[in-house]
Amino acid sequence: MRTVNVALIGYAFMGKAHSNGWRQVAPFFSPRLTPHLKVIVGRTPRKVREAARSYGWEESATDWRDVVGRDDIDIVDIVTPGDSHAEIAIAAARAGKVVLCEKPLANTVKEAEQMLAAVEKARVVHMICHNYRRAPAVMLAKQIIDDGQLGDIRHYRGTYLQDWPADPKFPLVWRMDKKQAGSGALGDLAAHSIDLARFLVGEIAEVAGDLKTFVKTRPLPDHPKKSGRVTVDDASTALVRFKNGAIGTIEATRMALGRRNFNRFEINGSRGSLAFDLERMNELEVYFESDPQSVRGFRRILVTESTHPYMQAWWPPGHIIGYEHTFTHTMFDLLEGMADKRVPKPNFVDGVRNQRVLAAIEKSTASRRWVSL
Ligand SMILES: NC(=O)c1ccc[n+]([C@@H]2O[C@H](COP(=O)([O-])OP(=O)(O)OC[C@H]3O[C@@H](n4cnc5c(N)ncnc54)[C@H](O)[C@@H]3O)[C@@H](O)[C@H]2O)c1
Repeated sequence: MRTVNVALIGYAFMGKAHSNGWRQVAPFFSPRLTPHLKVIVGRTPRKVREAARSYGWEESATDWRDVVGRDDIDIVDIVTPGDSHAEIAIAAARAGKVVLCEKPLANTVKEAEQMLAAVEKARVVHMICHNYRRAPAVMLAKQIIDDGQLGDIRHYRGTYLQDWPADPKFPLVWRMDKKQAGSGALGDLAAHSIDLARFLVGEIAEVAGDLKTFVKTRPLPDHPKKSGRVTVDDASTALVRFKNGAIGTIEATRMALGRRNFNRFEINGSRGSLAFDLERMNELEVYFESDPQSVRGFRRILVTESTHPYMQAWWPPGHIIGYEHTFTHTMFDLLEGMADKRVPKPNFVDGVRNQRVLAAIEKSTASRRWVSL
């Protein structure tokens, strides 16, 4: 078993989640390549040293430029805000590194395309972290759809609802600054629903979007008595038409009080339906029209059997898994892709297509018209 060294750029929310994924993947999945948590990067020396110690990284560094070209680094994992994804990913690809990047791939379609061109030119393995594809129940939904058990897909209904900045006094963090984040609920949350829609239903052909900012100014994080302008959306809605004839809705908001991380979808086909809710992520609801009339109705599959996707690596049936496992599954699929010299999915091609949908929703909002992809 060969060891591969990882450099993680960023050390906060996703830094912790990815560190955990890299730590857990070998003991549970025994991938052919074993990751070593080599170096974690952040700009504040004390904080990044502390992160290295508590998350289990061998070293810390304060400038990604000193790290991504190092001979002893095999994988560069990017978990910074969107405004730095392109620069770091392109430098890492040019240095011949495998690149894993958080979503959305970039802040603009142009940057995303440059990132894709860089990884393709360098012929390196690349992946985008749309980790919700890797919930076992979502993978099972994909198998059910691909088996034809739902028939022709007619509807996709994706909602991703949160409420963390609903209070107007919540400060103006980077996620509310277009320069750093690219967009608000759109790129942060709808990007995941778009990825799930593309994964499960197919490519999106056109969109009619609407973006809304409810709270237009907020206190500055370091000067709470001063306020600054919110330059992104709080909420995004879109009607979508798929290339295969299905239609759908994608709604994302940070203003749905009481909804903490309500990432849900429902899919209706000509022979059945299914529904998934991240807050009950071990379950998949299914309805099959072919069931005998007397027992026909939605039923709940507990997706914890060893025959279900990824579950053989974990616990006996009924012993549920959680949010963090979706990252471990991502790391496993990336490592297996590397071992096979194959680019796993979702990758930067998916990232670019997703970014085009985000841009189309913005364009549609501005023009008040349907926009084709
Ligand atoms: N897949 C998911 O479910 C999921 C969830 C949350 C966030 N994200 C994505 O992950 C990325 C990071 O989000 P987060 O929630 O971890 O944000 P965060 O604010 O918690 O962390 C951002 C980190 O990046 C660091 N950073 C910023 N600029 C840097 C630079 N130039 N060099 C080195 N470090 C830098 C910050 O110091 C911090 O450690 C974003 O792209 C976000 O959209 C994905």
